[in-house]
Amino acid sequence: MSSIISVRDLVKRYRTVTAVNGITFDVPEGICFGLLGPNGAGKTTAIEMIEGILAPTSGEIVFRNAPIDDRFKEKVGIQFQSTALPEFITVRETLELFASFYPDPRSLSEIVDICSLGDIIDRDNRKLSGGQRQRLLLALAIVHRPELVFLDEPTTGLDPQARRNFWSLIERIKSERTTIILTTHYMDEAQLLCDQVAIMDHGRILELDTPQTLLDRHFSGAVIRVPDPGSSFLRDPATLPEGAVARDGSVEMVSDRVDESIRRLLDADLNLDGLSVHKPDLEDLFLKLTGSSLRA
Ligand SMILES: Nc1ncnc2c1ncn2[C@@H]1O[C@H](COP(=O)(O)OP(=O)(O)OP(=O)(O)O)[C@@H](O)[C@H]1O
Ligand SMILES: [Mg+2]
Repeated sequence: MSSIISVRDLVKRYRTVTAVNGITFDVPEGICFGLLGPNGAGKTTAIEMIEGILAPTSGEIVFRNAPIDDRFKEKVGIQFQSTALPEFITVRETLELFASFYPDPRSLSEIVDICSLGDIIDRDNRKLSGGQRQRLLLALAIVHRPELVFLDEPTTGLDPQARRNFWSLIERIKSERTTIILTTHYMDEAQLLCDQVAIMDHGRILELDTPQTLLDRHFSGAVIRVPDPGSSFLRDPATLPEGAVARDGSVEMVSDRVDESIRRLLDADLNLDGLSVHKPDLEDLFLKLTGSSLRA
């Protein structure tokens, strides 16, 4: 698969902060590539450099094996982390306005269908709910059939149903072979949508691969979680059985032999109310890599 974007040793330094500290990756054409990480990891800074909005301190960005030129802007669509919509006009007028900027935009009916905007087409932009607003912003980012779309935390703040609706829109754009670069701090979202993920923290990439490859590399077995072990165990982790660690007020154990591990927890006299066993996910991986919870 050929790369649509290649990034080499990209750095962005501000006076007192290094927001992006030397990142290198290739994005193959047609995939959904996820940049994951907690607040302040450097995700927005990284994609704004790739978008051409922010000048890098150093490093190189290549689009289809050539340096980025003026035509790049026509080939990409951008949904910023926060964007003001024009006020006092409707969704329909907004779509028509943005479509008028391009030589060969999608028709109004096509974009309304893709982004499910039919119910709100005559509503004033100021009256949109969070989820409706995100759908309109996505429509504006893809109205000109871009080859590459940047979505910066498109589902932050949406309720679970609105997030799920948004995910199906993203799947639909992906099915048209449009490449997507997505930032998120929701690991479930990344696991579902992304073909490859780069996990970022403090301006660096800690790991980069397909979600399943990363999980296979770091885990075998299941994660046992004890949500309410008893305060003495949290105060003095030395009292925990071998292999168990205290984290965010609960106790966790990664185990190949669930029955044996639970027996050890029982023998140590932990309170096992609410105990759960699940297959490790990207959230667990992030905890393992950084030692801290994503949304702490
Ligand atoms: N213009 C700026 N001047 C100084 N520091 C900045 C500037 N922009 C970003 N930073 C800092 O760079 C770091 C990375 O910020 P960035 O916005 O890229 O993080 P992020 O991963 O997108 O976080 P979030 O999930 O909160 O959106 C942060 O510490 C931030 O405070
Ligand atoms: Mg950001």
